[in-house]
Amino acid sequence: VHLLPFTSTPEELVEEARKALTSGPAPAKLLAVTGASNVTGEVPPLAALAEAAHEAGALILVDAAQLVPHRPIDMAALGIDYLAISGHKLYAPYGAGALIGSARQLEQSKPMLQGGGAIKLVTTSDVLWADAPERHEAGSPNTVGVVALGAACDALRDIGMNLVVEAEHALARQLWTGLDRITGIRQLRMWPEGSCDRVGVTTFTAAGYPDHLLANVLAAEYGIGVRNGCFCAHPLVMQLLGVEETEAHEIRAEVAGGDETRIPGAVRASLNLATPEQDVREFLAALERIMARGPSFAYRRIPLRNEYVPVNDTRGWPDMHVRLSPAPNREVEGEREIS
Ligand SMILES: Cc1ncc(COP(=O)(O)O)c(C=O)c1O
Repeated sequence: VHLLPFTSTPEELVEEARKALTSGPAPAKLLAVTGASNVTGEVPPLAALAEAAHEAGALILVDAAQLVPHRPIDMAALGIDYLAISGHKLYAPYGAGALIGSARQLEQSKPMLQGGGAIKLVTTSDVLWADAPERHEAGSPNTVGVVALGAACDALRDIGMNLVVEAEHALARQLWTGLDRITGIRQLRMWPEGSCDRVGVTTFTAAGYPDHLLANVLAAEYGIGVRNGCFCAHPLVMQLLGVEETEAHEIRAEVAGGDETRIPGAVRASLNLATPEQDVREFLAALERIMARGPSFAYRRIPLRNEYVPVNDTRGWPDMHVRLSPAPNREVEGEREIS
């Protein structure tokens, strides 16, 4: 596996992909790229990347988990050989997804998982695999998840992806420009503004606030849920935050030793079909207030973690059958605990 470097423009990414595809010791077989960054929302130049892959005799796989809820995708027009999508990012429940590829290619490829349903005949010395798609669907299928994923796709088609794009575009603009106007907020991007398409996601830092603290202030004081941390994209987030390699090594050693306090991170806000304009307005107003006046509660940091909890929040927990714990590792006798 050859990792493509971070680049400062989409064009440079295509150039780097071209180089990587042709400079290895053996001919490259597959170029795998993300369809839209789950950190910045930026969409790489997929058609140009597909062209680069094909020129080098390779195939292209696009991880469209983040792209497919936001954009119509014409695999043939873009030249995409394989597309991976995830149900739970497409308004369906967790646990189902799809790998879409041409019947010919899927027919020829060996199954990644082996088991019942994927075979025609098994002998003690041999296996005859079923035809595609069954050969790639070993084991008992997640039928409910797949039906729900199909229903979600139908619903999106009924709404019309062009309408989804249009609605998101207006809201995203409001979110991005609103954040740019708040002093101390810095939105993270790989590439210059306007150099690529971008789905309705933004990741940012706030001067004076560790990411988890800001996320917690938004949740505890405003009832706003954002995600914080490195978003399963640690190398990219560290790059965007300017964490040098030596510092990254130091942090790694500290985390391995049990001290997570220096794990860097940022805060992400994302839009989907269920986001009304009022949510964007309230989110921006909350951030503006936090940046101007600070939090209303006091917060304490959990030892050895880069996490914060309010200390003077007297509202208590909602009346539920299970007890929610305000801090990890708190013992509550006789009750089920969720932390
Ligand atoms: C680009 C991308 N690919 C894959 C995933 C993971 O998908 P899943 O939860 O279906 O494994 C995510 C999000 O978590 C993602 O952002």
